[in-house]
Amino acid sequence: MSPRLSVAARIAEALHPAASAVKAAEPCTLVIFGAGGDLTRRKLLPALYHLMYDGLLPPDFAVVGVAREPLDDASFRAAMQRGLEEFASDGGSSPLAASLSERLFYVRGDLDDAQTYDALRRRLDSVDAAFPRSGMRGRLFYLAIPPSVYPEVIRHLSESGVARRVPDPADQPWMRVIIEKPFGHSLESARALNAVVREAFAEHQVYRIDHYLGKETVQNLLVFRFANSIFEPLWNRQHVHHVQITAAESVGVEHRGRYYEEAGVVRDMFQNHLLQLLTLTAMEPPVKFSADAVRDEKVKVLRAIRPITPAEMHDYLVRGQYGLGTIDGRRVPGYREEPNVAPDSGTSTYAAARFMIDNWRWHDVPFYVRSGKRLPRRATEIAIQFRQPPHLMFPLPPDEQFEPNVLAIRVQPNEGISLRFEVKVPGVEVRMVSVDMDFDYHQAFGEAGHEAYETLLLDCMLGDATLFTRSDEVEAAWTVVDPIIYYWEHKRPDHFPNYAAGSWGPEVADEFVARLGARWREP
Ligand code: BG6
Repeated sequence: MSPRLSVAARIAEALHPAASAVKAAEPCTLVIFGAGGDLTRRKLLPALYHLMYDGLLPPDFAVVGVAREPLDDASFRAAMQRGLEEFASDGGSSPLAASLSERLFYVRGDLDDAQTYDALRRRLDSVDAAFPRSGMRGRLFYLAIPPSVYPEVIRHLSESGVARRVPDPADQPWMRVIIEKPFGHSLESARALNAVVREAFAEHQVYRIDHYLGKETVQNLLVFRFANSIFEPLWNRQHVHHVQITAAESVGVEHRGRYYEEAGVVRDMFQNHLLQLLTLTAMEPPVKFSADAVRDEKVKVLRAIRPITPAEMHDYLVRGQYGLGTIDGRRVPGYREEPNVAPDSGTSTYAAARFMIDNWRWHDVPFYVRSGKRLPRRATEIAIQFRQPPHLMFPLPPDEQFEPNVLAIRVQPNEGISLRFEVKVPGVEVRMVSVDMDFDYHQAFGEAGHEAYETLLLDCMLGDATLFTRSDEVEAAWTVVDPIIYYWEHKRPDHFPNYAAGSWGPEVADEFVARLGARWREP
């Protein structure tokens, strides 16, 4: 396996193999708040195990779990081992599982109790003492807890002295905090949370997770756009007719009805993942590959998105909620029949939006963005549809349509990139057909690649914030979606459910794109 590099270094290496230097993370302790929860067992511990397997964890690495559950070191280790059996790629069968287990420690306590933080401080001191060779150890605080508790934990961390503000990124030992999504539930609450975070930490210490940015294909979008010269000249209003960004899921809300009733699709998928895909597609080339240069350009895109006024909502947006239906031959319940969902719920499980970006590059180019639960299959893709030739000299039979060129970036599954173009069908007649030139990740590189959480945890240990969202970026994204959420929450839908599980969403979504001469792709 190749040594693990920060994302910037990885791409630098890919572009100029000689230019990269292997930079290892320094010894550190990861403190997980909410260590008894699903995220720790399903994602975080398996990610650490895989990193360890690849030799990428820093030397003298340790984890301190903090949670209310009545566990001690031994029972915490046993619970994590069971998690590895279920969620690690090899079922946690490597001897490294035992080595990781020895590095796990547990502090039991309530997160709103100051004594928990005293106990944590004593535990961190004893962990530091257990690794006398590692010198100054970095500290990474992971908030795998409900968002309502973030402010309290951050305040306690700061007041107890367990975490402290580090003014300069070069100061040692480093201290960083990882905050899971959702970051606020509105612009106002995101601002308030940012204010709490700023009291305790400098911005360079804060890593706000959007796991889409950890996906290999999402990172590849940057390389694809900015390490090739043939696409960039076409990447603008002169050549692009519109852009479609789809995140379709076949699953329903599963056991998360209570959360989803509060969130809905716009908070759950648009504010974060979909707007991230949009900014990476639309942004200007950053001057260098550094966290701030990249994020500056993303923020500019978010700020250039034209606000949708209440009078325009109907033209720019479609909402939907799934009813009973069939997926993969299986009958599945409607949203209102899911556990912890109100029988007359007005929550949207599908949304489609047209975003216009008011800048020179994208003036008048619609960005159609959609996401929904219980669609026929799981597929996330970004499709750039190019303009048609200005004059078509080939006559078409009356029932045939001319198909425009499409560049499709498949984020998941079947990760890859394809370009559709027209060719002549062999024969005496001049007939055209669309064909695809296809690049498939798995064919090209095998099963290589890392889970999003592996990439993100490692980047955070390395101090590379490129794949994390900055405070102004989060607020700019809320500024885009807040009016939509507000409008929908105050105007109850009277037509829900309006799409059957297993369909591609409400029919009005087709008319919605047809108005400007587009058609949804079936990814
Ligand atoms: C999460 C949302 O952030 O992303 C979920 O809360 C959604 O509702 C999930 O299912 C989708 O992630 P992925 O990686 O499966 O596309």
